[in-house]
Amino acid sequence: MDINKYTPKYKISQGNLLRLSDMTTEDIFELLYLAKAMKKKFKVGEHPPVLKNKTIALLFGNVSTRTRVSFEMGIRQLGGDYIFLPKNETQLSRGESIKDTAVMLGRYGLSAVVLRAFTDAEVSEFARYSSIPVINGISDETHPLQILSDLFTIWEVKGRFDKLKIAYIGDGNNIANSLIMGCSKVNMDIAIDSPHGYSPARDVVERGMQFGNVLITDDVTEAVRGADIVYTDVFISMNDEDDEEKKRILARYRVTKETMALAKEDAVFMHCMPAHRGEEVSAEVIDGPQSIVYDQAENRLHINKAVLALLTK
Ligand code: CP
Ligand code: NVA
Repeated sequence: MDINKYTPKYKISQGNLLRLSDMTTEDIFELLYLAKAMKKKFKVGEHPPVLKNKTIALLFGNVSTRTRVSFEMGIRQLGGDYIFLPKNETQLSRGESIKDTAVMLGRYGLSAVVLRAFTDAEVSEFARYSSIPVINGISDETHPLQILSDLFTIWEVKGRFDKLKIAYIGDGNNIANSLIMGCSKVNMDIAIDSPHGYSPARDVVERGMQFGNVLITDDVTEAVRGADIVYTDVFISMNDEDDEEKKRILARYRVTKETMALAKEDAVFMHCMPAHRGEEVSAEVIDGPQSIVYDQAENRLHINKAVLALLTK
């Protein structure tokens, strides 16, 4: 399906946003079209009050810059309110169950809850018991909001998805997993170049292959050849222990100008951020003319607003 021939209805088939594997291509397009409309309004200072009288809980279990600020600002801009709940200040930190927390949060008039840094199993359990929409703001295995924002950014920059190739270089982590699902669902080809032992989850790769071309390789030239986008992420994620051996193994997966030279001439560089210059990417690439990382970060705002608007309708 071609996004540019799609007519949005501004509704989605899901009551929650847990992971991209649950979403249809239409759901993804609906969110991207609404994010585009939200961004257009934001740029001229218009803020539709679609969250008026609505309060969103942000239940966060780890640190965040982009996810937190883009939700807090997005909710304010849409006329809503939020409660920021650090997980370690709730009774979850003292052993209260996910079930009790989920059921109880649905009793206070909240309109949705954003979970950050729960496991995927906990996100599913939370949603099972929740009477209000649950949004996954990052888990150990997935980061759907980031990849929706990235798809929106790619659509803005490249104007389409069909026949584009994205190469992801480095750790096969939550970003790699969600990129496989998101890109394959919008008909992009995706190549992953990861070392043995750090490849994306096997079930995700198999699922992605049902929708599109997913190549898993340990050959950077094969991965990046003909790529329109080169993407990387940190070697050590927030849920990982610091691991010098892993960093040593991944060191040769750093995206440098030599890596970018293997891609198409008009290729762009993407990173979900936070980034470590000199580790997974060289400063000259992330700070260079091909980098669109700040657009990705900005678009988190517009995607979050679209997600909240459609899920709390
Ligand atoms: N990309 C992302 O999720 O950033 P934060 O960890 O700062 O929220
Ligand atoms: N893979 C990274 C993504 C951060 C947005 C992490 O989980 O820390």
